Amino acid sequence: MQEIVKRLEEMRKAAVLGGGQRRIDAQHKKGKLTARERIELLLDPGMFEEWDMFVEHRCKDFGMDQQSIPGDGVVTGYGTINGRVVFVFSQDFTVFGGSLSEAHAEKICKVMDHAIKVGAPVIGINDSGGARIQEGVASLGGYADVFQRNVLASGVVPQISLVMGPCAGGAVYSPAMTDFIFMVKDSSYMFVTGPDVVKTVTHEEVTHEQLGGAVTHSTVSGVADRAFENDVEALAMVRRFMNYLPANNRTPAPHRPTPDPSDRVEPSLDTLVPDSPTMPYDMKELILKIVDDTDFFELQPEHAKNIVVGLARMDGYPIGIVANQPLVLAGCLDIKSSIKAARFVRFCDAFNIPLLTLVDVPGFMPGTAQEYGGIIKHGAKLLFAYAEATVPKVTLITRKAYGGAYDVMSSKHLRGDVNLAWPSAEIAVMGPKGAVEIIFRKDLDNPEKIAELTEEYRVKFANPFIAGRRGFIDDVVMPRMTRKRICRSLAMLRSKKLENPWRKHGNIPL
Ligand code: HXC
Repeated sequence: MQEIVKRLEEMRKAAVLGGGQRRIDAQHKKGKLTARERIELLLDPGMFEEWDMFVEHRCKDFGMDQQSIPGDGVVTGYGTINGRVVFVFSQDFTVFGGSLSEAHAEKICKVMDHAIKVGAPVIGINDSGGARIQEGVASLGGYADVFQRNVLASGVVPQISLVMGPCAGGAVYSPAMTDFIFMVKDSSYMFVTGPDVVKTVTHEEVTHEQLGGAVTHSTVSGVADRAFENDVEALAMVRRFMNYLPANNRTPAPHRPTPDPSDRVEPSLDTLVPDSPTMPYDMKELILKIVDDTDFFELQPEHAKNIVVGLARMDGYPIGIVANQPLVLAGCLDIKSSIKAARFVRFCDAFNIPLLTLVDVPGFMPGTAQEYGGIIKHGAKLLFAYAEATVPKVTLITRKAYGGAYDVMSSKHLRGDVNLAWPSAEIAVMGPKGAVEIIFRKDLDNPEKIAELTEEYRVKFANPFIAGRRGFIDDVVMPRMTRKRICRSLAMLRSKKLENPWRKHGNIPL
């Protein structure tokens, strides 16, 4: 017995030391924490229960039978974040570069299987050189086993990826299938083929950072949802983020009591929308002024900035917010913003998080770049996502709601539950100037007449009354009363029950 305990202790020590002090120091030198240090910061203190610390690889080729480290390059188990259970895996770059062996994959699969069974989120910390080269196809099979579980868990339990080191080749497809990807600036990168292959094939010269760093993916590609300065910030933000999410698709998101009164009146909102319909204003100001405690967790803040998405609370209950941003491209919907918002709407719907949509949209972005890029298909994603969503949907039109974009942005016609408008709302097929120039094309050489007709169109349509008369909006509310009205609507909708007809799955335009 004593002998076994002694051996156990030795194995634990070896597992904890991973690839050894030299490699741990190298990890620290790169500004990165180790796999275990990351778990310690992510979870509540002392709550981590580690599994499979003694698992070792089974490879005998290329001298691997001489090298084995307990744990095999990934630390797995479960713990709590603010008292709620989460499953974690954290790849240990100090052990064979965090590369994924068959055994390493089995460890990840085990925690994913349990997460699905008990209904708890999975948080994966990626820091890996990819497939364990010495293992060949066994390693590739391991990846596919993880991919399969990513898909089965999708929409069942939240899946979060923290990319905190290399993540390249086919390995990127596991994080890509999770709900959110958070990266760390200057120490993480994701790409399907690295700079050397890129140079050979396309003759482009790029650095790792330019090709697939955190800034690239959180601005240009939209692959990452946030880019953080360092490991510590990223882990702290993920802890905060988890507080908005339910454990699974059958339990409600956690309620957090707030001292912020749900009937708080915000007089400054009365002057948020400028008199001139072409003057921009910051939609984020509205968001911050109506949510609990000015607390808004924005996702993809630097990508497709013409739409704002993120999580907040109202009256203590988590909600998802989708808002056109008049400050960027006048709040137009284009390919990137449609994809960004559609994916977010689907996440919220899958996990029963009510949606608040704030509308100021002059339409879809015109141009060959958009048409050639498939705006028809991509814009349809957002339309599909809203139309399919059965969660409570509250919509507020602050100013423009023009054309197809009016329909798309959680309109009454797409089963919007409560559709409100400010007095400044303009709901029409298009803006007055464009409308008159089409209807009265033959009078274009008479600017006075055109100006007169434009004004007439503006008076007729640049208000919320026509939509109100048809019941397409339920009420016109004073801006200062917005928080109260939305909180009440969401409270009324808390018992909402709505189911779509049975089907195997829909066929969202991809
Ligand atoms: C086995 C690996 C490894 C791998 C790194 N190591 N990647 N061992 N399989 N895939 C080992 C190294 O030999 C080294 O061991 C240690 O990890 C640290 O690696 P370094 O190269 O010293 O670190 P660094 O300079 O930081 O470079 C990191 C790296 C580089 C850029 C990730 O290691 C690298 O290019 N690795 C190979 C990446 C790759 O081609 N992977 C396969 C991709 S294909 P020692 O003992 O010296 O410390 C793939 C397919 C997935 O992943 C398909 C899924 C469908």
